[in-house]
Amino acid sequence: MRIAVIGSGYVGLVSAACFAELGHEVISVDNDRAKIAALQRGEVPIHERFLPELLTRHRGRLLHFSASVAEAVDKSEAIFITVGTPQSETGEADLSFVEAVAHEIASAIHGSKLIIDKSTVPVRTCESLRKTLLLTGAQPGSFSVASNPEFLREGTAVTDFLYPDRIVIGVDDDLSASVLHEIYQPLTTGSYYNSGSAIPFNEYVHRRAPIIVTNAKSAELIKHASNAFLAMKISFINAVANISESVGADIEQVCAGIGSDSRIGPKFLNAGIGYGGSCFPKDVQAFYVVANQCNYEFGLLTEVMRINADQRRRFVKKVRNALWTLRGKQLAVLGLAFKGDTDDVRESPAIAIIRDLLKEGVRVRVYDPAAIPNARAALSNSSVVYASDPYDAAAGCNALLILTEWKEFASLDLRRLRSLLKYPIVIDGRNLYQTDQMTSAGLIYHSVGRSVGIPEHLSSIADQTEVGLQLPVPVMRPAVGL
Ligand code: UDX
Repeated sequence: MRIAVIGSGYVGLVSAACFAELGHEVISVDNDRAKIAALQRGEVPIHERFLPELLTRHRGRLLHFSASVAEAVDKSEAIFITVGTPQSETGEADLSFVEAVAHEIASAIHGSKLIIDKSTVPVRTCESLRKTLLLTGAQPGSFSVASNPEFLREGTAVTDFLYPDRIVIGVDDDLSASVLHEIYQPLTTGSYYNSGSAIPFNEYVHRRAPIIVTNAKSAELIKHASNAFLAMKISFINAVANISESVGADIEQVCAGIGSDSRIGPKFLNAGIGYGGSCFPKDVQAFYVVANQCNYEFGLLTEVMRINADQRRRFVKKVRNALWTLRGKQLAVLGLAFKGDTDDVRESPAIAIIRDLLKEGVRVRVYDPAAIPNARAALSNSSVVYASDPYDAAAGCNALLILTEWKEFASLDLRRLRSLLKYPIVIDGRNLYQTDQMTSAGLIYHSVGRSVGIPEHLSSIADQTEVGLQLPVPVMRPAVGL
């Protein structure tokens, strides 16, 4: 199949590379000529595992790059729209980029084309696409419109695409159905997985990728509802964590108990500073607006958003309680990205918390394995010190904060950290450690949904710390030889 993918961001570039991996002839299009030129030179603009391998494997062979929508449409049978749908001031999805691309596609349609929306859009967008294409001069009968939402997570986008829990196609005619079935056939028949050169992923539970065929409206609703449900699951467990913390229960054990119910499942029950990223915040808000437009007050979603915003405020309060006063304190912060395994800082809870701490006169030394370049632009605050590793960040600080769930932050040399910190305090916003791991290393450990861990030799402050009284933490002389 000859495929055009319009928009080369996270979704578009990964989709284009994976379509080529499935054996299709692909043209990846972007209006950013510099980005297209960089892609043609072999540069990889986003941090995604396996993406460099796929681009190297297919660039110049099955995968080409272009800045011309018209050229790509003319050469393709299937045209995927993967442009951004950012949040507008009113909270609804801004579909102006989708509409602009539709205008360009319409003027280039000659012969039968299938236009497939893969961007996350409100329900009934395919209807609007059809109207716009006709209004812009596309001949009736010369095209079909379908929905094929993606469920990629940043950091695992390639394996999410090639090893999906399900493929959803929203089609309103037989042509659309047959074209999309052909495109995904290597996955739905399982032939890709037996090809010998497949990208490895040995946790896949399916021999053939499941495919759900529905109409366009239902497919659009599946996407918004999926993201809203996942965000709700995170806010729910954070609310339970706040109760757990106040009664001295252990949220990690509570989650084990909840998640062992097969109807709930253990995934997405990680309590912490809440969700961020370029999807959940905007998609939950957009879905709320869609509901309003359908005259339905989706109050549950307003609570999901409120709890999520509140988690950041609660964490800053936790830092203040742990240190008594914040002004003039120096804090080490591990994590800038909105989650582990990505360099993306969009809507990052870590960045939001750092901004709040800076407003309170805190000095910060920050480290992130991949997101420092993006964070420099987002923070644009000269007082932020960018460290070379977690230990460089910790040197001389009054406390160490963990804000992003990078795997490397879960296996730090805790005794080395203790020797570097001015105060032996770790405040973990992602619950990466068991409490006794920290206390046995001589560190006071604050986390989410659990009681504060106090090392034996500091037990005298346990009662005050437990009830959150604000006491100066005794200055610890770095232990020698630990
Ligand atoms: C999400 C959806 O998972 C994906 O299906 C959709 O296509 C795009 O949006 P993404 O935003 O890339 O993917 O990352 P995800 O792994 O879902 O994490 C989103 C946020 O939730 C991150 O900030 C993460 O730290 C947070 N999170 C995730 C939690 O706080 N707790 C959890 O248990 C899981």
